[in-house]
Amino acid sequence: MLLIKHGRVLDPASNTESALDVLLDGERISKVGENLSAPGAEILDASGLFVAPGFIDLHCHLREPGGELSETIETGTKSAARGGFTAVCCMPNTHPVNDRASVTRGIVERAAATASVRVWPIGAASIGSKGEALAEIAAMKDAGIVAVSDDGKPIATARLMRQVMEYCDGLGLPVIDHCEDASLFAGGAMREGATSIRLGVPGIPSQTESICVGRDVEVASITRARLHIAHMSTRASLAYVRAAKKRGLRVTCEVTPHHFTLTDADVIYDTRFKMNPPLASRSDRDALVEGLADGSVDAIATDHAPHHPASKDVEFDRAPFGIVGFETALALGLDLVHSGALPLMRLVELFTTGPARVLGMERKIASGEPADLTIFSTEHQWIFRASDSPSKSRNSPFDGRTLRGAAMATIVAGKIAFRR
Ligand code: DOR
Ligand code: ZN
Repeated sequence: MLLIKHGRVLDPASNTESALDVLLDGERISKVGENLSAPGAEILDASGLFVAPGFIDLHCHLREPGGELSETIETGTKSAARGGFTAVCCMPNTHPVNDRASVTRGIVERAAATASVRVWPIGAASIGSKGEALAEIAAMKDAGIVAVSDDGKPIATARLMRQVMEYCDGLGLPVIDHCEDASLFAGGAMREGATSIRLGVPGIPSQTESICVGRDVEVASITRARLHIAHMSTRASLAYVRAAKKRGLRVTCEVTPHHFTLTDADVIYDTRFKMNPPLASRSDRDALVEGLADGSVDAIATDHAPHHPASKDVEFDRAPFGIVGFETALALGLDLVHSGALPLMRLVELFTTGPARVLGMERKIASGEPADLTIFSTEHQWIFRASDSPSKSRNSPFDGRTLRGAAMATIVAGKIAFRR
């Protein structure tokens, strides 16, 4: 038994914040109340800290199988635990692609043997994520996938999107799309604008994303199935999502910490600033923050995308897209709280009940619920050093940044997965 004492419990499901103790018995929460005692229980003193439901990351890349030079399920989930995440959804763009049950089972088994946090695989929508034939979605669901996506690429055509949505609706799975019009993307490496011109880096117009979001919302209006927009980065995309919600469509979206923190003006000729979608304009960033605050954005997701140093140590145009993100996500979110842009409860919702709802799950701090908790400080000052991370990769534009706030303990199924 583990007894968490003297913390402030933040529970978005009941919209309550209060000084409560939480007693965990095995893999479940056994009691929540004032001044709890439990003879023989291990005590975790959470004085001055917040106790939240376990954070869920809807979008990460653990690179296993096939990319073990950059990350493994073991190293990636250690990094996730440091970031306060108790469950992470891993994208299927591995080698081989997670497009069939045997690959899903392999991920689930590796996770059972090596992971620090829960690993919820996302299956490919199409075979090889090639955009032609549907993947073995039902068999992958039986093996444990929680959603489908061809992430790294968009679901290739509106017709395929319709098929995937109709199929997944029957299975109760959300379809997650990486929205990008391939013809506009064409060889770009950062957002098109004054900075891309100054740096001489090929640009990607913001409409590359929003055209595809618009397409997907229209397809969702045919199917009425669940659609989730991955790493949404522009004002125009948000407008499509808002309008879709107004129409009563089951459309949700996520935003990454880098997109709500940085803009294309922050990009220097350093491949740690290269990710897809690229950092957007200030107007786009400001729209995302408004969306996070007003509920139009459903979740914060990291898009943790590790790439080993040798692959990033090339010219900007030739480097792979992606940055690591687990360990900086909470503090970057807390920056929005410290600046007054977001109430703390709303931030916690974006890391917990928000992503859970996208997956059709619940998260709350109550007796009988899974003992997954994130205990964090809003004040702890620290410097993020990529070289200290258990991740195998170092590709973060936030390396060396002073941060305010951090996960102090991450509890998964009643066990302490990380403690600062
Ligand atoms: O930045 C990105 N990295 N965007 C993607 O869509 C793919 C990801 C990766 O797998 O590295
Ligand atoms: Zn993506």
